[in-house]
Amino acid sequence: MSSTLWHGRFEGGPSEALQALNDSLPFDQRMFREDIAGSRAHVRMLCDVGLFTEDERDSVLTALDAVEGEIESGSFEFKVNDEDIHTAVERRVTELETIGAKKHTGRSRNDQVATDMRLWTRGAIDEVIDLTERLMRTLLAQAEAAGDAYLPGYTHLQQAQPVALSHHLLAHGWALARDVDRLRDARSRTNVSVLGAGALAGSSLPLDPEKTAAYLDFEGVFDNSLDGVADRDFVAETLFSLSLLGVHLSRIGEELILWASTEFGFITLDDGFSTGSSMMPQKKNPDIAELARGKAGRLIGHLVAFLATLKGLPLTYNKDMQEDKEGMFDAVDTVRLTLLALDGMISTTTFNVDAMAAQADTPYAAATDLAEWLVGQGMAFRDAHGVVGEKVRRALAGEGSLADLVAADPQLGDEAAALLAPGVSVTRRTTRGGGSPAAVAAQIDRFRARLDG
Ligand code: ARG
Repeated sequence: MSSTLWHGRFEGGPSEALQALNDSLPFDQRMFREDIAGSRAHVRMLCDVGLFTEDERDSVLTALDAVEGEIESGSFEFKVNDEDIHTAVERRVTELETIGAKKHTGRSRNDQVATDMRLWTRGAIDEVIDLTERLMRTLLAQAEAAGDAYLPGYTHLQQAQPVALSHHLLAHGWALARDVDRLRDARSRTNVSVLGAGALAGSSLPLDPEKTAAYLDFEGVFDNSLDGVADRDFVAETLFSLSLLGVHLSRIGEELILWASTEFGFITLDDGFSTGSSMMPQKKNPDIAELARGKAGRLIGHLVAFLATLKGLPLTYNKDMQEDKEGMFDAVDTVRLTLLALDGMISTTTFNVDAMAAQADTPYAAATDLAEWLVGQGMAFRDAHGVVGEKVRRALAGEGSLADLVAADPQLGDEAAALLAPGVSVTRRTTRGGGSPAAVAAQIDRFRARLDG
């Protein structure tokens, strides 16, 4: 007969409505490997401290292997009273080995679920870091392939100063590098064992939490059992890191959308990474980039929802905390898919470098270079700005081309006018981290070192 974990204390069984709301099995069964790994470590520790004989330990370990095999192969039969993955695994282990009933010795689902979630999150962070670094490598490869190509840099979405295409691509790369740092940082606080905290207060049994932590490759062990079972900071931090990564992917997406438009024409998308229209035969749509932009909203939603869930909770465990899972699983799935699709989109995109250069070579894009050239001649920048601004105003008013007006001004002349020639302006900003192709060469080396380091 299947029964609840608390059947001893209760006369009646759970109502359907309670089960429907309360059960987390539909979503937490994807943590079965982590749950079984936690149980293996716990049982080993129980044997080490003398609470299990070696035979008892081995029979439970064998049963755990069998249960893992059943779940992996799909032959595992979930029962109506399996409210979560912990209950399901324990129920089946006990069916296979009566000694399995002892498996829960010195452990509560409260320290168990927190451990499972930490193990799952640790693995998920590693996977997201790998995929983020993969996208960083794609940006690096495209930056290297871009050579001396350049495009307008923008502020206020108005053409500002020309920059190397490699420079623009790596700007996104550095943002992703910080996301990797943040994920690693969140991982270090995730990678702490809370097994042994019990339901909330520790145990009267001679448990060895450090041993369990070592079996599970955790870097640290909880210091306070109440905090151990109540802490979900690692979930919030990871959701934040994923949200900010999502925001960066969204900003990349937004630029790809702009660049793919007919008006910009800076990129041509590969057929495999764009979609068509059911009605308009000429359309080629940047859906991946739009979804990268759209999914960021959902990621932010998971973070905000979870912070709101946590904020009023008294110590220690409260069932509200079960809400940590669906948001986390969805956030990781969402980021994983977005990273893969954007990576494919960017690695197959054709950069229309002539269209970019044509936009970057409008004479006005070099106006700042003219003012800086005057500074080089000894003029104060504010005055230089005024001199050049006056030429720009007159050129826009139709008094002549900017180049002619500059050449005719005795303070400027032919040498200054030469700065307005196509392809010259972009070469001027050679300082560290600057946008000229020459400066980007060193940046590319630093970026590669960051990836390989
Ligand atoms: N399914 C629960 C969760 O995800 C497991 C912990 C249940 N603990 C309890 N005391 N009811 O949070």
